[in-house]
Amino acid sequence: MKNIQEYIENNKERFLTELIDLLKIPSVSADPAYKDAVLNTAEAVKISLEKAGCDAVEICDTPGYPIVYGEKIIDPTLPTILVYGHYDVQPADPIELWDSPPFEPVIKTTEKHPEGAIFARGACDDKGQMYMHVKALEYMTQTGNLPCNVKFMIEGEEEVGSESLSWFVKREQEKLKNDIILISDTGMIANDIPSITTGLRGLSYVEVEVTGPNRDLHSGLYGGAVANPINILTQMIASLHDENNHITIPGFYDGVEELSKEERAKMAEAPFSLEAYKKALDIAAVHGEAGYTTNERNAIRPTLDVNGIWGGYTGEGAKTVIASKASAKISMRLVPNQDWKTITQLFKTHFESIAPASVTVKVTPHHGGQGYVTPIDTIGYQAASKAYEATFGKTPIPQRSGGSIPIVALFEQELKSKTILMGFGLDSDAIHSPNEHFGVFNYLKGIETIPHFYKHFTALSK
Ligand code: BES
Ligand code: MN
Ligand code: MN
Repeated sequence: MKNIQEYIENNKERFLTELIDLLKIPSVSADPAYKDAVLNTAEAVKISLEKAGCDAVEICDTPGYPIVYGEKIIDPTLPTILVYGHYDVQPADPIELWDSPPFEPVIKTTEKHPEGAIFARGACDDKGQMYMHVKALEYMTQTGNLPCNVKFMIEGEEEVGSESLSWFVKREQEKLKNDIILISDTGMIANDIPSITTGLRGLSYVEVEVTGPNRDLHSGLYGGAVANPINILTQMIASLHDENNHITIPGFYDGVEELSKEERAKMAEAPFSLEAYKKALDIAAVHGEAGYTTNERNAIRPTLDVNGIWGGYTGEGAKTVIASKASAKISMRLVPNQDWKTITQLFKTHFESIAPASVTVKVTPHHGGQGYVTPIDTIGYQAASKAYEATFGKTPIPQRSGGSIPIVALFEQELKSKTILMGFGLDSDAIHSPNEHFGVFNYLKGIETIPHFYKHFTALSK
C-alpha cells in the first residue's frame, strides 16, 4: 500500500477544499432554525459518497433527520466493514468566543498542530473524521485497492441523541449486516502517541425544575419567609456529591465495575502529564473523586455534572427578586454495567425525595445510552493496531475514553457486531467548544491509516 502516501500527496489540496466546503454548511441538529442546512449536508454527503465510488447511495428518511446510506459490495463472500459517522454538529455558541466565524473554515497553526489545523464547528466532531473515510474509500476504489465490501451509514442526529438512528438500525438489520463497525469520532493521545479507544462512557441526561411561589416576588417583602427556588436548587445540587466527591444518589454505584489493580496499573502506563493538563486548562488544581487519578476519573468512573443552570434576574444592574422557578440541566456519565434508564430513575426518585415541602420539583429525562468496552484480543483490534503501526511506526495504546457515543452499544445489541473506534482527534481540538479545529496532519493521517485497516481486517478474516 505504498501508493496511498503518493495519492494523498497528489490530492491533499482537494481533500482539504472538499472538507472545507462541507464545513461551511451549518448542520446544527439541535436548533430547528438550521433544518435546511442539515438536510443540505445530507445531500452533500450523498454526492461525496457517490463520487468516492459507492454504488447505491440513498438518503433514507426517518422520523427525524435522514441517514445517508451507501455501499460498495465487491464480493458477498468477503468481509463487510460498516462505517458510521455523523454529519450534524453542535451549536456554535457562544459565538463571540470564536476567533473566526464557526462556519467559515480557516487553516491556522497551533502549538499542537504546527502543520496547521482547520478551524470550524464540526472540523473534528465529526465532519472531518467522517470525511477521512470518504477519501480513503475514494483512494481504494480509484486505485483498485478495495479488499472487501463496505457500507456507509452517516447520521444527522448524533449530537441530539441518535433517536432516528436507533429506529433505523432496529428495522434495517439485513441491510446493515456487517463483520465489523468502524468509527472515527473519538481521539488519540497525541500526534506521536497513537491510541485506540477501547471504551466509551454511557450517559443519562436530565433536566430539573424547582418551583416555589406562584410568581416572582419582591425579595425584601418576602425574602426569608418563602423558599427561594434558586437557593433550594443549588443546595439540592450541592448535596449530590459528598466531601469525597462521591455521588450520593442511593444505588448509583450498584454494579459499577471496579478495575483490578493490574488493569489500573496498565492504564497508568499511558503517557500523561498532570502539569501539562493543568496548564492547558489554566487551573491550579484538578478535582474529582477521592482515590482515583485524573485519567481514571474521566474514563472509568461515573460522574454527575451540571451543564447549565438558570433562573431569576440575570440582566443589567440589580433587580431585587425571588424567582418563582429555577432550573438546571444535568449529565451523568456512566460506566459499563450501569444501566442508563435505571440511573435516570434513581436520579428522579432521589431528587424528588430531597426537595423540601416548600417547593415542587419536576425531573424531565432527556436522552441517554449505555457505555461500551471492547476487548483487544479480536481481529478487529489487531487490524486497527497493525494499521497504526504501518502509518505511525508505533504500536497504538488501548485507552478508554470519557465521551459517549450511545449508539455503539445499540449496534452490538441489534447488529451483533463489535465496533472499532479509530479516532484521530486530540483532546485539545476543542470539540463542542469555541474554536474547534482538526489538524491537517490528523486528517491526512486518518485517510492514510484507514485503507491499512481494510487490508489487515480482510487478511485476518480469512
Ligand atoms: N464524538 C463525540 C463523543 C466523543 C468525543 C467520544 C471524543 C470520545 C472522545 C460525540 O459526538 C458526542 O459529543 N457525544 C455526546 C453524547 C451525545 C448523546 C450527545 C457526548 O459525549 O457528550
Ligand atoms: Mn461526534
Ligand atoms: Mn459531539
